[in-house]
Amino acid sequence: MVKRPRRLRGSENLRRMVRETRMDPHSLIYPMFVMEGQDKKEEIPSMEGQYRYTVDRMGECLQELLDAGVTSVMLFGIPKVKDEVGSQAYAEDGIVQRAVRYAKEHFPQIYVITDVCMCEYTSHGHCGVLCDHDVDNDETLKLLAKTAVSHAQAGADMVAPSDMMDGRVAAIREALDEAGFQKIPIMSYAVKYASAFYGPFRDAAGSAPSFGDRKTYQMDYHNSREGVKEAMLDEEEGADIIMVKPAMSYLDMIVKVKEMVDTPIAAYSVSGEYAMVKAAAKMGWVDEERILGEMAVAVYRAGADVYLTYYAKELARMMKEGKIG
Ligand code: PBG
Repeated sequence: MVKRPRRLRGSENLRRMVRETRMDPHSLIYPMFVMEGQDKKEEIPSMEGQYRYTVDRMGECLQELLDAGVTSVMLFGIPKVKDEVGSQAYAEDGIVQRAVRYAKEHFPQIYVITDVCMCEYTSHGHCGVLCDHDVDNDETLKLLAKTAVSHAQAGADMVAPSDMMDGRVAAIREALDEAGFQKIPIMSYAVKYASAFYGPFRDAAGSAPSFGDRKTYQMDYHNSREGVKEAMLDEEEGADIIMVKPAMSYLDMIVKVKEMVDTPIAAYSVSGEYAMVKAAAKMGWVDEERILGEMAVAVYRAGADVYLTYYAKELARMMKEGKIG
């Protein structure tokens, strides 16, 4: 036998020499929930180990991230009041705007990305304004653009629209540029499927739609060419980073999209992925650390450059300890 693949698996040194996937904690983004109120840190029931922080307590989390080697966060806001048009999404003193100001003032070394969407802020829980029981695409664009500008004004380093309206990247780019924020990049949740994996997040953010579902704007998971179309459209509209979401069951889309666009690719391992691992680990059925490491490596192996995960801290530590690439 001339070809013996096992020859390259003979020792840890050799395996690490020929490893194909290498990772760096700087590519990790930690999604974080901020809420109104004072001096509170609440555990999210469906996401054990994840919390909602009031602005005055978010420093604890940011410090832990820095200590672990995670340097980027994505902020999600939970407002006190919701209304038909999601006014708190673009209010100057809205929850995300205040959280951004706090983070940039006290932790300037952290890169702050904001999720731009309406669903946490609307009384009906949909990702835009309604017209006849459906989300009005073009009316929503104006509010998304306004939200993105207000985040940038608060000091956000990057904005990430997750609403799935057509044309939102172009609308946000134009508004940011007009307001003088030409340097603020847009990470587009371009390839976002209507997924049951978001269940725990909607608990965490109180953002489940009060009627219907999100299938008129998020994508049908039977489709892959449509995902490529979304990615290419957003790239044309000026997206700087293209995201695939969820991650675990959509690795094929990471591979495909990576071939078709020239931007860095991000993948978001969503709340349901986190909750499944947590629950199985709690039962003693899987080894949590090994599972989360394997899930992360799979995402990078598929081609992701950036990884959003609730396990960012744990992963950064594992990377530093050499447990994974
Ligand atoms: C808001 C948004 C959602 C997620 C990120 N941004 C929820 C949704 O689309 O219903 C999901 C994140 C997760 O499940 O971890 N539009």
